[in-house]
Amino acid sequence: MKLSLEGKVALVTGGSGAIGQQVCLYLNRAGVKVIGASVPFDLESAEILRREAMDAGIEIDVVAFDAADFEDTGNAIAGIKEKYGRIDILVNCAGITRDAPLRKMTNHQWQQVMGVNLNSMFNSARHVVEGMVEHGWGRIVNVSSVNGQRGQFGQTNYSASKAGVHGFTMALAQEVARKGVTVNTVAPGYIDSPMIQAVPEKIRESILGDIPVGRFGQPRDIAAAITFLCSPQASFITGAQIPVNGGYYMGH
Ligand code: CAA
Repeated sequence: MKLSLEGKVALVTGGSGAIGQQVCLYLNRAGVKVIGASVPFDLESAEILRREAMDAGIEIDVVAFDAADFEDTGNAIAGIKEKYGRIDILVNCAGITRDAPLRKMTNHQWQQVMGVNLNSMFNSARHVVEGMVEHGWGRIVNVSSVNGQRGQFGQTNYSASKAGVHGFTMALAQEVARKGVTVNTVAPGYIDSPMIQAVPEKIRESILGDIPVGRFGQPRDIAAAITFLCSPQASFITGAQIPVNGGYYMGH
């Protein structure tokens, strides 16, 4: 099955992260003009995204803005629309961890995670959804986490934000279902990425032992699911949360 996304324009927040980069590459290979968003205070990550794209022989426009900031996001999206005319696909990949048991968690750690993981989704969707509705076609994919489905020791902030991601998805999916716009969530399990490398080795090894397929996921495993959800072939899937976790968690 060839996924036909020729000529669509996509914005991928967190485009310079491990998963975001692969999403940019996959969408581009499916014919999408991709704008990968990185953060303005991390110019190194923008450069990495540009280099990755160049190495893969593809063209990605990199725009730097703070996805946790409503106005900054709005200004960046206005600039993208001016340049490309519209945004057909929005993939919300921006996400961070600030792990600590609640008894040690600071207000700053809580607010940072809520800002990047949860508020960013509102900030970007609020600025693109109207255009999608006007065009009668759109795809929004939000990245949550298995830890938003089952909770994780040391992640009250992250688990709450990622559970919130899917609540947002289900509500918005209902609001735009009649307008040709689908809204879905992809819930990654433990993916081979810097985020996992930051977990103490002993805990990492024990998590690996609990993954039935016997390996950590690869960023491309997530990118493939997201690309499918963005395709016209997925037009009857909306408000869904697709787990991509190697069997680590099989509940809802
Ligand atoms: N279950 C039950 N008890 C646990 C536990 C667990 N999973 N982990 C630790 N504990 C216990 C410890 O044994 C310790 O007990 P005692 O006080 O009796 O000795 C107590 O809780 C305190 O634990 P720590 O000393 O480890 O506390 P810490 O402050 O040093 O570290 C932590 C806490 C930073 C959260 C650390 O446990 C940790 O990094 N855990 C892993 C968190 C994790 O998996 N994050 C996922 C990141 S990847 C990701 O998020 C991507 C995705 O979407 C999947």
